[in-house]
Amino acid sequence: MSQPLQIGPHTVDPPVVLAPMAGITNAPFRTLCREFSGGRGLFVSEMITTRALVERNAKTMRLVHFDAAEKPRSLQLYGVDPETVGRAVRMIADEDLADHVDLNFGCPVPKVTRKGGGSALPYKRPLLRAILRAAVGNAGGLPVTIKMRKGIDDDHLTYLDAGRIAVDEGVTAVALHGRTAAQHYGGEADWSAIARLKEAVPEIPVLGNGDIWSADDAARMVRETGCDGVVVGRGCLGRPWLFADLVSAFASGGGPSGGEPVYARPSLREVAAVMLRHARLLGEWQEDEARGVIDFRKHVAWYTKGFTVGSDLRRALAVAGSLDELASLLDQLDLDQPWPVGADGPRGRTSGRNRVTLPDGWLDDPHADAAVAADAELATSGG
Ligand SMILES: Cc1cc2nc3c(=O)[nH]c(=O)nc-3n(C[C@H](O)[C@H](O)[C@H](O)COP(=O)(O)O)c2cc1C
Repeated sequence: MSQPLQIGPHTVDPPVVLAPMAGITNAPFRTLCREFSGGRGLFVSEMITTRALVERNAKTMRLVHFDAAEKPRSLQLYGVDPETVGRAVRMIADEDLADHVDLNFGCPVPKVTRKGGGSALPYKRPLLRAILRAAVGNAGGLPVTIKMRKGIDDDHLTYLDAGRIAVDEGVTAVALHGRTAAQHYGGEADWSAIARLKEAVPEIPVLGNGDIWSADDAARMVRETGCDGVVVGRGCLGRPWLFADLVSAFASGGGPSGGEPVYARPSLREVAAVMLRHARLLGEWQEDEARGVIDFRKHVAWYTKGFTVGSDLRRALAVAGSLDELASLLDQLDLDQPWPVGADGPRGRTSGRNRVTLPDGWLDDPHADAAVAADAELATSGG
């Protein structure tokens, strides 16, 4: 059904990418997704701010950790200042911290756009160009890709210009989340924009992103848009086995047998085993079991979505403090429940916004030089 995706020297086959998600796609979660995919696909780190990286912030350096089995090591950066982005990318290349650098231009949170960062930044074409030039110029040959939204709102679309600038500056591939910043996570992703971007930048691979909730959705996005690969975010929350489905879907259409794809439908017993492993991996990664279990709490509702779990147990699971406690609570569930009908649909954030907060005069001239205050980097992200 599809060609392998080429990201510089790295062949990604099938062309499926785990979307960077702050607070989620750390090494433990990437390990789970990678195991379910049989090691196929590309698994992007959580976003790392360039300033924190060049300052060697201790928490940031932990986020830069990759398991030995991760190949290629894919790191997402977020920055607003060409010089700092250049230094961060040079550090990654010089110190061999990753094999691929993705740059995030999709963050819609007001704290960031208010200062001109995130999804507001590509509106200022010269600034975008300067950042991409600094990144590619300092990458020492590592592939640099970008991930963006359609624009600020329907009246201020930026993705086609940004795509052309990316090609000019030697970016290896572009990923498009088919929403504007104004849409946040509401409404439906506009896949037709992915098709338009594909036409606008025939020189480099285009990755489509937005509202892939199942492997069939991924196959449909490739068919409908002609994109070279898919980026899957919220669909994997509490469902890392979606990567097994994705591998199966892409193999079935394109493989010699051309058979029907086989999709994972884990029972609650199987889900509970993945939950426990996820929590354990988080503890090992943090070198602190309790912190791992606490970090895992946010995943509980996603894993158990659609299953019958009593409200007392649900509450207790969400405040478990140790692996033993988590295991004994999971044991109390009715573990023989099959995969629930309807659990395949949307999950995670789905709400919209109407207005994007921007710096004064930001929209006056897209071609004017601009700078973004460095503290636009320090806020949390999204995309
Ligand atoms: C919890 C969460 C955190 C996210 N963090 C990032 C991020 O750090 N970098 C980024 O480029 N996008 C981030 N995103 C956006 C996703 O990568 C993706 O573009 C978006 O969720 C749309 O894809 P989906 O419909 O498959 O979820 C985040 C999304 C969510 C839900």
